[in-house]
Amino acid sequence: MLNSLSIRCDGRQLWLLDQTLLPQEESWLEATDPAVLIEAIRALRVRGAPAIGVAAALCLGLRQGGPDFLRVAAALRAARPTAVNLMWAVDRMVSAWEAGNSLWEEAEAIFTEDVALCEAMAGYGASLIEEGDGILTHCNTGGLATAGVGTALGAIRRAWEGGRRLHVWVDETRPLLQGARLTTWELQRLGIPHTLITDSMAALLLRDGRVQRVMVGADRIAANGDFANKVGTYGLTVAAVFHGVPVHVVAPRSTVDLYCPDGSSIPVEERAPAELRGVVTANGTLRWAPAEVPVWNPAFDVTPGSYLHSLVLDVGILDRRSLAEGVLSRVLAP
Ligand code: MRU
Repeated sequence: MLNSLSIRCDGRQLWLLDQTLLPQEESWLEATDPAVLIEAIRALRVRGAPAIGVAAALCLGLRQGGPDFLRVAAALRAARPTAVNLMWAVDRMVSAWEAGNSLWEEAEAIFTEDVALCEAMAGYGASLIEEGDGILTHCNTGGLATAGVGTALGAIRRAWEGGRRLHVWVDETRPLLQGARLTTWELQRLGIPHTLITDSMAALLLRDGRVQRVMVGADRIAANGDFANKVGTYGLTVAAVFHGVPVHVVAPRSTVDLYCPDGSSIPVEERAPAELRGVVTANGTLRWAPAEVPVWNPAFDVTPGSYLHSLVLDVGILDRRSLAEGVLSRVLAP
């Protein structure tokens, strides 16, 4: 049985913790059927770059191959466009299928590797955190977003468990509130001190010296270190750089896309206008903007790697100068 905070798979069925219902309800959804998983990925029932790749791999790993394998793989691969972990995982499954290898064993390996990658990143990331740090984070980068302890939140967790006193400032993360709904849920369960803020309050905290570092994840990292992450990361980084606060991205190698030379070639998902006009609740849609108001709703933004203090990968900590010199291509070339 493969078991993580948000994914379960027993070799016959795949189950996902429906993240759209958190924190009100902890409800598991069966997503063995690729059509169900594709809907779940699009609706963010399963979300976070590594988690959607792992879920897609497991879904393919439960299949016997067959004539429609490539069609199903292509449909899963296209479910969301920005997080390259999804393409990375599906491409690994297709390579296993082409080589005649066990699909289940490959999917299982993708799951267990993600757990190990999280541990490695968390160890390196935790080493950056100092006693008494205020750490600002955006979106959700914990166990819900990966098969393991997470990326940025995994580093924070390991530092806390290692005895460092710290405080996490949680951006609510407009518009879908992954910070408010999911990161606070994880931090509460872990007993890590935290405070929820709106995204628009972050600059004040940075100005007032209450944040010693910003730690976020990424959905795709270009060869030069430019990275896509949840929309709001760019503004947060600009404010942090302005106030001299270091920004760290914590991500596994499966998030690096060496085919993107820089951030301009990263595809950015645009989502439905309804997500900004209101919210869908169990009792219907609560709308706070006129029904037809024009909306622009990019789900991610791209931040220059040159704004980073460091990129924490599973292989170690890379600084901005080495990123600009192309260290990623050297470290991760196949
Ligand atoms: O739209 P989401 O919730 O899938 O966006 C997730 C993020 O932006 C995370 O920061 C990112 O996946 C890296 S954390 C594992």
